[in-house]
Amino acid sequence: MSRPARSLLSIADLSREELLAVLDLAEAPLGKPLLAGKGVALVFEHPSARTRNACEMAVVQLGGHPLAIRGEEIGIDRRETAEDVARTLACFHSVVTARVARHSTLERMRRAVEEAGRPVPIVNLLSDWEHPTQALADVLTVRQRLGRLEGVTITYVGDANNVCRSLVGAAALCGMRPRVAAPDGYSLEERDLEWVRALGGEVELFSNPREAVVGAEVLYTDVWVSMGQDAEGEARRRALARFRIDEELVALAAPGAVVLHCLPAHRGEEISAAVLDGAGSAVWQQAENRMHSLRGLLRFLLGEGAGHD
Ligand code: CP
Ligand code: NVA
Repeated sequence: MSRPARSLLSIADLSREELLAVLDLAEAPLGKPLLAGKGVALVFEHPSARTRNACEMAVVQLGGHPLAIRGEEIGIDRRETAEDVARTLACFHSVVTARVARHSTLERMRRAVEEAGRPVPIVNLLSDWEHPTQALADVLTVRQRLGRLEGVTITYVGDANNVCRSLVGAAALCGMRPRVAAPDGYSLEERDLEWVRALGGEVELFSNPREAVVGAEVLYTDVWVSMGQDAEGEARRRALARFRIDEELVALAAPGAVVLHCLPAHRGEEISAAVLDGAGSAVWQQAENRMHSLRGLLRFLLGEGAGHD
């Protein structure tokens, strides 16, 4: 039976050295076409603009064939089990990537492929728990903008969701200082703080966004209502109303602070139009970096990086 492949379900699946190796591979000139004649499956149970395009083009740049599959086509746990979907895709593809409603689906897919003896990585393209490939693009963008990661204070404002969790994990791995400003009931929990500690970092929680941004060189936000949360939309908008990145908040941060947003954005909700479209915003560089960092990740998972002895 083959050795199990390296998968990426959580940003914590990478060590600090491996994460930095992925960032370096994201910026390294292309070498041999690692995926020539090979396929990469992209399963989407939820919609996507950036992730699908970024991943498809990264696969093409590595000489492979990306195959995007909508959730309803394969009907995970409706038409057949998540395990059988994963075993099937692993028959045809060198890497299986998926955006899923439930994080446990990815864990089941990884286990099934490992137990089948297929050396096929599983990559989380967003779950209800984490968005690790987003976090790779986020830290790459910070490194490009500021020229360093170590010691950089990054403040996330809003709903401490999947994007926030992977971001603070990545920040901890990179030696950054993550802060989170969120209302009661929408912040990180003790188990998240423990998880960040295990990664070698410390995340500071704030209930006042004005305090959280003081001295921050990077500000970050995401939607107040994530995919699958529409029924809670009104309650979330009410609870999060004070947690918007606007011009007043940016003025309290470090001079020239970089503003990030994973997108899609809702101008006037979690971020003002003036900030999203303003001089400090790096959101389009960040969006393009989804492709570069996914390409770096694929190169790493396919054996170009550290951690493959
Ligand atoms: N940031 C991000 O994951 O965007 P999409 O939902 O469009 O893929
Ligand atoms: N938190 C958002 C991220 C979208 C990229 C969601 O899960 O919908």
